[in-house]
Amino acid sequence: MNILLTGAAGQLGTELRPLLSARGNVTATDRSQPDSAPKGWFKLDISDSGKLENLLSRLQPELIVNAAAYTAVDLAETETEAAFSVNAELPAQLAAWAKRNDARLIHYSTDYVFDGTATRPYLETDLPNPRSVYGTSKLAGERALEDAGCKYTTLRTSWVYSSHGKNFVLSMLNLARKGLSLKIVDDQHGCPTSARNLALASNAVIDAWQTAGPAKCNGVFHYCDDRSLSWFDFARMIFNFAVVAGLLDHVPDITPVPSIEFPQPAERPKWSVLDTGRITSVLNIPSASFEHALQTVIDEIRATA
Ligand SMILES: NC(=O)c1ccc[n+]([C@@H]2O[C@H](COP(=O)([O-])OP(=O)(O)OC[C@H]3O[C@@H](n4cnc5c(N)ncnc54)[C@H](OP(=O)(O)O)[C@@H]3O)[C@@H](O)[C@H]2O)c1
Repeated sequence: MNILLTGAAGQLGTELRPLLSARGNVTATDRSQPDSAPKGWFKLDISDSGKLENLLSRLQPELIVNAAAYTAVDLAETETEAAFSVNAELPAQLAAWAKRNDARLIHYSTDYVFDGTATRPYLETDLPNPRSVYGTSKLAGERALEDAGCKYTTLRTSWVYSSHGKNFVLSMLNLARKGLSLKIVDDQHGCPTSARNLALASNAVIDAWQTAGPAKCNGVFHYCDDRSLSWFDFARMIFNFAVVAGLLDHVPDITPVPSIEFPQPAERPKWSVLDTGRITSVLNIPSASFEHALQTVIDEIRATA
């Protein structure tokens, strides 16, 4: 199988690469190129639609996994055009190509498509109402796939982290090493999801095309790991695990604070817990353990420290 992976140097893309390579002939693209870029790496600014079209024509992928995204949530408030280019126009182009060429597309979206006013975990059928440019651009990407009528699966996920890239776990550890007392928001709740578990869920979606049939795999599914937490509780667990692993010598002084004490350019949903019942019941893909995933990531950070 010919596979095109976009965003291959990102958190998710890095975890997808080995899984997809075991399934076929992968061409990996990103704006940057790692020092030890594997065979088949293609450096490309994916918002260049002409170059992307040439690449697609040349590769003729049967599967496109779109892990590329503009994920700078606050910067998106001012870089609207760049956010829409990658989060809305790129998926639209990929979906149109997939429709014309009968390829399958796996795409990713975010809990930030919701406004955070729900009082129970969000279902796929709940009405999105994004409050940020990032969330609005990602919702436009979701809708582009739906409108194109191609064979696609969109996995909506939340609070992605890994032992590499930019994420909350690495930021917290960096701050803790500076020995400062920290104030952490405790009125935003979500489901931290490891990039590896999201990649494994994506791989299971590809298997489900055979087991459940392609029609059942079409549409939006929520996938996140199995625990909902506030940022404060997440930070506390990171620090506890890091102390046990020997990454920190003590848990830093942390204080829970409301979001209002941390004004940010982009509004975040206060509640963005996703209900994962649909992916479990329809595709037989259950949420993986949050604690195990966090432990694994902490161990990997320690191994490279
Ligand atoms: N991170 C989260 O907390 C989170 C939460 C919910 C949903 N998601 C979704 O999950 C998916 C994966 O996220 P992630 O955390 O893996 O994101 P990430 O680490 O930011 O990776 C995205 C990759 O796309 C690349 N990219 C962006 N613009 C590009 C362009 N014009 N040309 C080529 N490459 C470009 C980025 O390169 P640069 O680094 O050079 O920009 C980066 O390597 C995304 O769809 C995201 O929206 C993420």
